[in-house]
Amino acid sequence: MKVFLASDHGGFCVKEYAKQVLDDLGISYVDLGTNNASQSVDYPDFALILSEHLKTDLNAFGIVACGTGIGISMAANRHKHIRCALCHDQTSARLARAHNNANVLAFGGRMLGNAVIQDIIKTFFSTEFEGGRHERRILKFS
Ligand code: RB5
Repeated sequence: MKVFLASDHGGFCVKEYAKQVLDDLGISYVDLGTNNASQSVDYPDFALILSEHLKTDLNAFGIVACGTGIGISMAANRHKHIRCALCHDQTSARLARAHNNANVLAFGGRMLGNAVIQDIIKTFFSTEFEGGRHERRILKFS
């Protein structure tokens, strides 16, 4: 499993923490920036970079973050091959995978503590898509 990570300045801290969690899980990742929390950047630019990388490996996953997680998840979902879920707890992380086959997980860097972020990442990457009726619904996206 490979994970691409991207954030704006508001999501930088959670992106850095997500790398620690992925290290603990033994999941490899590629950090696509941004590289600090002090320089203001535009989250759609980082959603686009992540989208281009996911196009090269449609079996890969992504983690994106901005201040709230709202802007970057909206921007990521403009790209047809992305199903991005903004998750605030373990239940939304589990169902985003099981029912929505989400391939990108979004966080708000100013919203959650590290313990919750860790639980969400562990749950997201250990839950399989259930397929069946959920597959039929996802196919209707396009
Ligand atoms: C940047 O300050 C902030 O607007 C952005 O990170 C995000 O929260 C937007 O949805």
